[in-house]
Amino acid sequence: MAAHAQNRTAAIIGGGVIGGGWAARFLLMGWDVRVFDPDPEAGRKVGEVLDNARRSLPGLSDVALPEEGTLTFHDTISDCVAGAEWIQESVPERLELKRKVYQTIQEHCAPDAIIGSSTSGFKPSELQGCATRPGQIVVTHPFNPVYLLPLIELVPSDINAPEDVERAKGVLTAIGCYPLHVRKEIDAHIADRFLEAVWREALWLIKDGIATTEEIDNAIRYGFGLRWAQMGLFETYRIAGGEAGMRHFIAQFGPCLSWPWTKLMDVPELTDELTNQIADQSDAQSGMHTIRELERIRDNNLVTMMRGLKAQKWGAGALLNDQDRRIDQLPETLDDVADLSAPIVTVARAVPLDWTDYNGHMNEARYLQAFGDATDKFMAMVGCDADYIATGGSYFTAETHIRHIDEVHAGARIRVETQVLLGAGKKMHLFHRMFEGDRLLATGEHMLIHVSLETRKASEPGPTVAAPLSRVAEAQAALPRPEGAGAAVGVR
Ligand SMILES: NC(=O)c1ccc[n+]([C@@H]2O[C@H](COP(=O)([O-])OP(=O)(O)OC[C@H]3O[C@@H](n4cnc5c(N)ncnc54)[C@H](O)[C@@H]3O)[C@@H](O)[C@H]2O)c1
Repeated sequence: MAAHAQNRTAAIIGGGVIGGGWAARFLLMGWDVRVFDPDPEAGRKVGEVLDNARRSLPGLSDVALPEEGTLTFHDTISDCVAGAEWIQESVPERLELKRKVYQTIQEHCAPDAIIGSSTSGFKPSELQGCATRPGQIVVTHPFNPVYLLPLIELVPSDINAPEDVERAKGVLTAIGCYPLHVRKEIDAHIADRFLEAVWREALWLIKDGIATTEEIDNAIRYGFGLRWAQMGLFETYRIAGGEAGMRHFIAQFGPCLSWPWTKLMDVPELTDELTNQIADQSDAQSGMHTIRELERIRDNNLVTMMRGLKAQKWGAGALLNDQDRRIDQLPETLDDVADLSAPIVTVARAVPLDWTDYNGHMNEARYLQAFGDATDKFMAMVGCDADYIATGGSYFTAETHIRHIDEVHAGARIRVETQVLLGAGKKMHLFHRMFEGDRLLATGEHMLIHVSLETRKASEPGPTVAAPLSRVAEAQAALPRPEGAGAAVGVR
């Protein structure tokens, strides 16, 4: 690919797990990236991280990313850092090595380039120790995978010029990161301190035979991990304090700090001063929302995240899927359907919080989702289930016509009833009606064609699907043709 004359340039020193992640983020945000890593496998390793980034990051955005920059590998640091505006050091976590690398970098880089270190533990003043221009080096500590997680702990020492810190923030923001400016340098910065505390407790829980690794992970991912992911620690506890807020929460749970609840027994005394400090900061952070509002925001976030996990069949989402299977009352097969001559209920559910839009009602795309789910359910009932599809046959939708007849809001219980207009040969012509109670909300008319998944072309369904489908089609043949079936979008 031709070099983009106008592109900004980043040099990546050390292209392992973390350096590869930085390289990918800069590249996908349109920067040219130059990599130095003495490992002969570096090209392959960076390439693998880049493949992962290319499949995940662009679609996280709802707008097109800039055109990808150019990636080059260089044999020397001097060649690599030439012309770079940002230099990201991600070599192994050894102070002497890092210091030696900065010396070489600084002999060859632009004096106003920013040198960020990915160090997990060292303070910037330690890194700056023997440097020619110490003020050029800051800690920019990322989290793996660097191409997806936005947090970068930006830790300057006293000698870094405030304008350079601002410039660093500007670059990090431009590549989609959240620079968390750590106001005082400290070993392991901020986030790794929490991870370290949790890690230490976890090691004790295993050593003392209290929990297994899986039980510990479940304790996180089915509960507080989901809360932390969207509100962190203090906003979550503010809600736990209820109307009385943070002061009440601290008064209630403060005494536990001196109980032997944890191996981490070195705790600060909860003086009035500390309590007030926390409560005031919490007011500044979240005081613009009432507790009721915060609860609703939290619930919306949790529903959105957990529904996302359902689609991945993972963690709390896998649990939800299991529970859905336990409580699902819809028939599994045609033999369980009481009356085949009437339309068959194929969806029965509540409208989830994340299906509504700026108009305060269910978004048009979700009607198709509900009708698509109805079609999937009907296919499974006539034998076109996962096992059949694994043998190489399936249905593809060829045409859809949805009529939006009435509004529906989050929480409403909706039902889709499915009528077969044609079920013969390669064709399956379905007419879905969506209701809330007796109120007709929408109709969806769909023409599906049976295909061979090998040739991707139309093919006759196998007998295990053809026979049940024609059984429904015959049973429903006497039903009146639904109002609106076969209609086109027209001017009334
Ligand atoms: N792994 C993590 O989760 C994580 C998270 C945040 C920060 N960090 C920090 O990132 C840094 C790198 O960690 P990593 O996990 O990517 O390690 P890694 O071992 O995966 O990668 C280090 C890379 O540096 C290369 N290297 C060795 N000597 C070099 C030199 N003189 N010049 C250039 N490259 C050299 C190695 O060949 C290797 O590819 C460390 O400081 C670490 O503390 C790691």
